[in-house]
Amino acid sequence: MRIIPNLTRIWLTRSVKPFTFKNEYDQRLPYADCENLGLYVHIPFCKSICNFCPYCKVRYSKELCDRYIDSLLQEIHLVGNQYPGKKQVTSLYFGGGTPALAADRIGEIIDALQAHFIITEGIGLELHPDHVTVEILTALKAAGVTKISIGIQSFRPKFQSILGRKAVDTAAMKRALDAVKFDTVSMDFIFALPGQTYDDLKSDIDEAFSLGANHVAIYPFIDFTFTASPVKPMPKKEKRALLDGITRYCIRKGYARHSIWTFSSEPEANYSSMTRDNFLGFGCSATTLLRDQFKINTFDIASYCERISRETLATSLTIRFTQRQRMIYWLFWTAYSTQLSAMDFERFFGVPLKKMYGLELWIAKRLRFVTEENGRYAMTLKGAFYYHYYENFYTLSYIDKMWGIMRTEAFPDRIEL
Ligand SMILES: C[S@@+](CC[C@H](N)C(=O)[O-])C[C@H]1O[C@@H](n2cnc3c(N)ncnc32)[C@H](O)[C@@H]1O
Ligand code: SF4
Repeated sequence: MRIIPNLTRIWLTRSVKPFTFKNEYDQRLPYADCENLGLYVHIPFCKSICNFCPYCKVRYSKELCDRYIDSLLQEIHLVGNQYPGKKQVTSLYFGGGTPALAADRIGEIIDALQAHFIITEGIGLELHPDHVTVEILTALKAAGVTKISIGIQSFRPKFQSILGRKAVDTAAMKRALDAVKFDTVSMDFIFALPGQTYDDLKSDIDEAFSLGANHVAIYPFIDFTFTASPVKPMPKKEKRALLDGITRYCIRKGYARHSIWTFSSEPEANYSSMTRDNFLGFGCSATTLLRDQFKINTFDIASYCERISRETLATSLTIRFTQRQRMIYWLFWTAYSTQLSAMDFERFFGVPLKKMYGLELWIAKRLRFVTEENGRYAMTLKGAFYYHYYENFYTLSYIDKMWGIMRTEAFPDRIEL
């Protein structure tokens, strides 16, 4: 399994040097000059734990959640106070876990961030379907949230039971979404579940838009080694037919594709915390990507609170990129949006894209993975499938390994990927 991402890494970084994450960190993060900087806040609590889910989370308790949020506010000021004045940032996303469980304190977190940052492109937050109520949505909107993402997974009872999720109360959800409006209402689905067909997915998407969503995210099921999910992944051929079929359906309906797995019915609707040049992450397991480094906070809530109480950052591991490593990181996440601009690459790295990756782009064009017009590359359906296919290897070899270690060790010495 690891052979594919390892060979790709060696080829694209022109080096056998692995991605090395070490137990060290900068107390002062060099973000002041970063352009296109996003913010992310992780809230690691859920009412019940789904057996397929790899994210950093524990069962919710009000007391633990309040203690955690007190530390989160401290971490925000620790980082924000590193530079005078307010730094302009793009977006702020709350992920989890289920951040809506802390709906009564989201305003405090946003206020803390706004003391140091000017957010220009809206504030997004993830909800479990049970939390889509008029009361919670009203509280979130009053706090400044402009986009919501609801984890539906599937409206079909067969797949809800495969995933161990209960039925969604769609009538209550529609009433709440009609009563409280947001710029983006996104719904998450999981595809490539055993026996899932094109018609199953198509009706999920239709139902999402009819309930009030203007954006959908259709994620391929990933079988993480450390989760206890009994679900087995779908074979490649079936998966490709499903992904191609559903993409064609969305394109026929006039939905805009914002990334490999997301479509919107209104052009302005979007929900993505990943496709940023740089981002600052706050909370357990949150990652921070800056010009030359990527760092990841500890997954352990007690260790996180303890570090922050000593006024030190809760960073567990840091990788300091070589230039080529940073380039492939940038290319990988930019390609996720299915578009790539040579100008943006040159603006970020100061060297032409063709000079660094001319051969690879030529091969990608020959294989009909991308088309090019004036330095703008657009992924084809075939390219999108292979990106998706490759992403599965990357996730299982790199993210699975890293999260597998981080969930059992608060501060591992070193991880090589
Ligand atoms: C943090 S959760 C969403 C919010 C909320 N906690 C919920 O479950 O409704 C983010 C999303 O990741 C996706 N996800 C979780 N585990 C996955 C897996 N093993 N494979 C693919 N997608 C997964 C789900 O679609 C989920 O809605
Ligand atoms: S899918 Fe959502 S509710 Fe389920 S464990 Fe993951 S974060 Fe929690």
